[in-house]
Amino acid sequence: MALEIDGIVLRNRRIKSVYYLVEIYCPPIATTIQPGQFIMLKISDSNDPFLRRPFSVYKSYSAGHGKKKERGRLLILYKKVGKGTQRMTGFIKGQKVNIIGPLGNGFSLPPLPSSSNIILVGGGVGIVSLYALAESLKAAKLFVLIGGKTIDDILCEEDFRKLNSTIFIATEDGSLGFKGTVLDLFLSQQKTFKGNPSRYLYACGPEQMLKELARGVKPKNFTCQASLEARMGCGFGACWGCVVKTIDPKVPYQRVCKEGPVFNLMDIVWR
Ligand SMILES: Cc1cc2nc3c(=O)[nH]c(=O)nc-3n(C[C@H](O)[C@H](O)[C@H](O)COP(=O)(O)OP(=O)(O)OC[C@H]3O[C@@H](n4cnc5c(N)ncnc54)[C@H](O)[C@@H]3O)c2cc1C
Ligand code: FES
Repeated sequence: MALEIDGIVLRNRRIKSVYYLVEIYCPPIATTIQPGQFIMLKISDSNDPFLRRPFSVYKSYSAGHGKKKERGRLLILYKKVGKGTQRMTGFIKGQKVNIIGPLGNGFSLPPLPSSSNIILVGGGVGIVSLYALAESLKAAKLFVLIGGKTIDDILCEEDFRKLNSTIFIATEDGSLGFKGTVLDLFLSQQKTFKGNPSRYLYACGPEQMLKELARGVKPKNFTCQASLEARMGCGFGACWGCVVKTIDPKVPYQRVCKEGPVFNLMDIVWR
């Protein structure tokens, strides 16, 4: 069940380019949040911006975590794109921040992760929500495809390496790894995937990337789950500001915050 609760900022720093990492002490949410779920963060007490902003949790450490100093922490990796995230860069140690979470439905894990080859595809800051998932899939063989416009948009590579996954990188300008989109990269690696047949693909990234992926992969070969990003008003199902169109004739419009943010990639009607 979602809680509304104050967390305390422990650290907030720029990690590269326009990307920042904030660590918040909030044990009730850190202990319960599942991969793919998200939180709504109140950016300012002054109600400017008025609406909370949605964020995935990059890393979370439960109250019983092995490393005592990490316990109860939530880490949010965010990209400075507008007013709210600009304000977040000013969060200081000791500051209280109000959080609602955990929200939404996260990723479903394969029934037997240890016997699976799994492909994760993340574009830009979308890779963040896949890291928590990868941690729960440590027993599986993971192929991680990370895409971005330039080398500055390639995030979390070192973390995925520590999980012993096989990593492929694509940048649109060729400044790191394969030159092209993450879908071009995916298609170029068909031989690798054929030798390691996978039935599970998980993705998160900009709408354009997910749309291309939905067209480019052969759905019958995969169970494809994707975490969608949408502008959100409330974050908990009340305003219907975040709907996407789906192929389900009974429920053609579904709320990213409530029924999602994780959907079957092939169930979305892309514009
Ligand atoms: C479930 C979920 C999880 C998310 N997780 C993360 C995360 O882990 N890290 C992260 O950096 N961001 C994440 N986002 C996106 C983040 O919520 C937005 O970047 C943020 O709300 C922008 O706020 P702002 O006030 O800085 O930008 P605004 O001033 O509101 O907008 C600036 C620009 O960003 C675009 N924009 C704003 N919100 C979104 C959005 N939700 N999707 C696509 N474009 C948007 C606007 O169209 C505009 O062009 C997530 C979004 C969702 C829905
Ligand atoms: S943001 Fe209000 S219903 Fe989804």
